[in-house]
Amino acid sequence: MSGSSGLDLAAARRALPILDEVTYLNTGTVGIMAEPVLAAHLAAVAHYERGGHVAEETAREGYERARAVLARLIGAEPDEVALTRNATDGVALVAASLPLGPDDLVLTTDQEHPAVLFPWALAQRRGRGRLSFFSVALDPEETYHRFVRAVHPATRLVVISHVSCETGTRLPVGAICSYCRERGILTLVDCAQSVGQFRVNLRQMGCDFATGNGHKWLCGPKGTGFLYVRADRLCVLEPPLVGAGATAPPFDRQLLGEDPAGAPWDFVASARRFEYGTRNLHDYAALSAAIEYLEGFGWEAVEQHVAATSGLFKTALAAEPGVTLYSPERWEESSGLVTFGVAGWGGEELSRSLWNDYGIIQRRVQVPDAVRVSCAYFTALDDLERLLAALRALRRS
Ligand SMILES: Cc1ncc(COP(=O)(O)O)c(C=O)c1O
Repeated sequence: MSGSSGLDLAAARRALPILDEVTYLNTGTVGIMAEPVLAAHLAAVAHYERGGHVAEETAREGYERARAVLARLIGAEPDEVALTRNATDGVALVAASLPLGPDDLVLTTDQEHPAVLFPWALAQRRGRGRLSFFSVALDPEETYHRFVRAVHPATRLVVISHVSCETGTRLPVGAICSYCRERGILTLVDCAQSVGQFRVNLRQMGCDFATGNGHKWLCGPKGTGFLYVRADRLCVLEPPLVGAGATAPPFDRQLLGEDPAGAPWDFVASARRFEYGTRNLHDYAALSAAIEYLEGFGWEAVEQHVAATSGLFKTALAAEPGVTLYSPERWEESSGLVTFGVAGWGGEELSRSLWNDYGIIQRRVQVPDAVRVSCAYFTALDDLERLLAALRALRRS
């Protein structure tokens, strides 16, 4: 498989020692960090933690560099990127910032992660928007038609995953964003399951807001993420929180005087307005290292490898008696996430047995009641063979 994608699979796997112990098929939940990235990460932590304020300037340079590297990766300007802790943060910030009334509709899908559902459920409880739904089909054209039928005159925002965490289905985000743009409806795309698997260009996608993280497909540090706010949409959001670093001019006691509320300060004119206070600057140095490490294999090779592996997984799984595949077959409509069920097994018990009895790390999904595996840049054919052998043994048991 390494030959067909051009990715140096042996080198990729050598840098991931956990692969000697387990079959790791769960990058869609959390990635595993390659040793060179981990070395950069530990060095950045040591530098900032040991040096404190002495190390502040270089730590901040690393932080800003990460913003620039990430922005380049996702087709954005650095000023359009707020660095967050995770993908959920991005959704929660938009949900808390967008001035919506109780009758304004927020249209989303039936396959969203709690990262999308809870922030909007809370906003709704507080009288800011009301959730409405359309269902994702395996066929993107059918998904698009269902979406169009679900749009209502009161729809103000559409919130969709780029890739469904349930079935790995890739949604027709470009078509949906362009439909919305023509009608003045805002769009927020959850890229938690897309950035790092295949190339994502937010500018081309045409969304207004997007969110993602560094700890899944980028295999970067846990607790890193981003919120993208298209430059001309910054004014639409009213940040719910503020602190030092998020304002212009910067903090000045004389300026604030005795009436901070009335003083002439505003939010900084970039997505940095969502960042304030002391931050985990060192983690972001390692996020650049993670992105550059994958770049070293070549993004095209990474994507081809994920496409080839997941394609083989799907073909082999579909040929197994009693196995039902829930992910679309064509790469352009799917992703490295492959969801399947086995007759007679609930997702939870199948997932538990694969983990405990066979050392195959994957995840259960709820709808459908099934198991999801993630094919990442380091996934090998042997991983597939082990999974198939385990499924056959479970069927016999
Ligand atoms: C589609 C999707 N969105 C959001 C999240 C949450 O990501 P985070 O943990 O970075 O907030 C996940 C995590 O599995 C996901 O699959």
